[in-house]
Amino acid sequence: LQQVIVLAWLGYSGVYAKDVQECELLANQSYICRELESFEQLQQYVQDDWVAVRVVNARHTGLENGDEPLPKLRKLQQLDLSQSGGLTLGALGFRDFAALQQLNLSHCQLEQLLAKQFAAAAPLRNLDVSHNDLQLISSELLQQLPNLVYANFSNNLIAELQLDAFKSLKQLLYLQLDTNELENVTIGANAQLQHLHMSNNNLRDFRWCQLRGLPQLRELHLHSNWLEQLDSGIFYALPQLRVLNVSNNNIYAIERSLFLGAEPQLQLLDFSSNNVKQLEDYVFSKLGRLETLNLWYNSISSIGACAFRQLRALQTLQLQGNAIAVLPAELFANLTALRVLNLSHNKLQQLGAHVFGSTLLRNLSYVDLSYNSLQQLHALAFSSLPFLLELRLQRNKLLQLDIRNFAPLRRLQLLTLSENRLLQLDEDVLSTFDKLQLLEINNNQLSYLPALAPHYLPHLQHIQIEGNPWQCSCLDELTSWLHQRQVVYTRAGSAYYSGQKPLCVVTPTPMQQCLRDLLAVQALGIVQHYEQI
Ligand SMILES: *[C@@H]1O[C@H](CO)[C@@H](O)[C@H](O)[C@H]1NC(C)=O
Ligand SMILES: *[C@@H]1O[C@H](CO)[C@@H](O)[C@H](O)[C@H]1NC(C)=O
Ligand SMILES: *[C@@H]1O[C@H](CO)[C@@H](O)[C@H](O)[C@H]1NC(C)=O
Ligand SMILES: *[C@@H]1O[C@H](CO)[C@@H](O)[C@H](O)[C@H]1NC(C)=O
Ligand SMILES: *[C@@H]1O[C@H](CO)[C@@H](O)[C@H](O)[C@H]1NC(C)=O
Ligand SMILES: *[C@@H]1O[C@H](CO)[C@@H](O)[C@H](O)[C@H]1NC(C)=O
Ligand SMILES: *[C@@H]1O[C@H](CO)[C@@H](O)[C@H](O)[C@H]1NC(C)=O
Ligand SMILES: *[C@@H]1O[C@H](CO)[C@@H](O)[C@H](O)[C@H]1NC(C)=O
Repeated sequence: LQQVIVLAWLGYSGVYAKDVQECELLANQSYICRELESFEQLQQYVQDDWVAVRVVNARHTGLENGDEPLPKLRKLQQLDLSQSGGLTLGALGFRDFAALQQLNLSHCQLEQLLAKQFAAAAPLRNLDVSHNDLQLISSELLQQLPNLVYANFSNNLIAELQLDAFKSLKQLLYLQLDTNELENVTIGANAQLQHLHMSNNNLRDFRWCQLRGLPQLRELHLHSNWLEQLDSGIFYALPQLRVLNVSNNNIYAIERSLFLGAEPQLQLLDFSSNNVKQLEDYVFSKLGRLETLNLWYNSISSIGACAFRQLRALQTLQLQGNAIAVLPAELFANLTALRVLNLSHNKLQQLGAHVFGSTLLRNLSYVDLSYNSLQQLHALAFSSLPFLLELRLQRNKLLQLDIRNFAPLRRLQLLTLSENRLLQLDEDVLSTFDKLQLLEINNNQLSYLPALAPHYLPHLQHIQIEGNPWQCSCLDELTSWLHQRQVVYTRAGSAYYSGQKPLCVVTPTPMQQCLRDLLAVQALGIVQHYEQI
């Protein structure tokens, strides 16, 4: 009991300690100061050798700046007021912080920042004013801060930028304007700027010429706006662009002319969650350096056979969540850098022989075809993919597997076939999976597997089998094989293994033997019987 009391007392005093005004050393010359109410109070603590201060007001009292001079703060280099609970800046603002390089004013309830609150040509490099109520960024303010490298104005109420507001910021690399009220933006010339974030604003009509004068721009983030159309010739305005994110807008078409301009350097294009309906031939053919193409959750129903031609560097292609019913022959041919292809949640009914072309795609390791309506895989559909490691086919309408599909997939480690309509798995299919570690065959119509030789599936670690109309005798054989091999098959929390759903059907076969004969199984009505339990 005594111990409990001591602990309780410690906890209690700990809570109160935080309410006491104090400064303590964090590391090096970096300090944390608690429960300060003004810059004048801060000045009473700060010593000549202090470099960085963070103010934490757990009671959210806020911090005020009167109009007293603050000579002792002139050497501070870093000031973090993001946990001060709010800031009321007097006329002098930060004028006396003559050495300040990093200033964090995030969450300070500021409605404005004025030029006169900073010393002329302040050395400030890193300014975070995110999560405030600023409505305007004035050129006058930015002219006071010519050394800014990183500027974060996200999560404010900024509706407009003055033309050429950032022009005087010759060092600026990173400008963050996400989550504001911007409708019409012209950044103006800025020779160094590399990263521009204007996501989650109200941009509707946007022309690349509004970004003229940004010769070094590498990343442009415009997701979650109201864009419907993109202007042509992006690389004329932005010759160095590497990353373009226009996800989550209302863009209804991707035109080839969009990618005109100087030799494109684009590496990542995120067009996901828009309203694109078709991909024309050669639409991306200028983008020889593109590595990632995200097109998920559009309405793509038609793809030209040459839509992905020339994407020599493409590593990741995300097409899931569209309305693709047909993949033309040669569509993915010669995408020799491709590693990941996701086609899940489409409307595919079949996979033809030549979709992946005839050149081996040596880097293609992950293919996801789950959540389609696949009934047929052409026997040669995967013949160019001998390096595949993971193949997802769950939730389709497959009735049977052809050994010719799987024989080339010698390195396959993961195969999901759950939620199909498989009636049986052939012995030769099972014996081909030399490297398989995870196999999902749950929720099919399997009532037996071929007799499992000890050397089958030598690397299997996990299997999912539930939800099939197993004959109980066959399931017993299967599970004892799995036990011997120490393969995990039960799943915690599954209705099947907690007894709420049946795992097998008791059949009136002689000697309780596992009946491995599809016609006989059908004659006994085992599948129907299982469905009625
Ligand atoms: C402490 O200061 C030294 C020298 O100025 C610097 O190299 C080191 O990164 C600093 N450590 C921390 C945690 O700031
Ligand atoms: C400013 O402070 C916020 C909240 O403490 C933090 O998330 C953010 O990373 C800081 N900004 C910079 C530039 O360090
Ligand atoms: C604002 O952007 C800077 C990069 O300039 C980043 O370090 C910082 O974490 C961002 N602040 C918040 C609150 O996200
Ligand atoms: C956007 O701003 C530019 C320049 O400030 C102006 O010419 C154009 O008319 C504006 N567009 C809209 C839709 O307000
Ligand atoms: C693009 O924007 C979306 C938000 O719509 C975000 O989820 C995604 O991570 C972004 N992509 C990149 C590469 O930054
Ligand atoms: C793929 O490359 C081979 C060899 O370079 C070429 O013969 C074939 O025409 C190409 N196929 C497509 C569809 O680009
Ligand atoms: C395939 O991947 C390897 C290793 O990541 C890489 O070195 C090679 O360049 C890639 N092949 C192609 C054609 O991009
Ligand atoms: C493919 O996309 C689906 C849906 O977004 C996702 O759940 C799945 O994990 C992705 N597959 C792979 C292999 O990344």
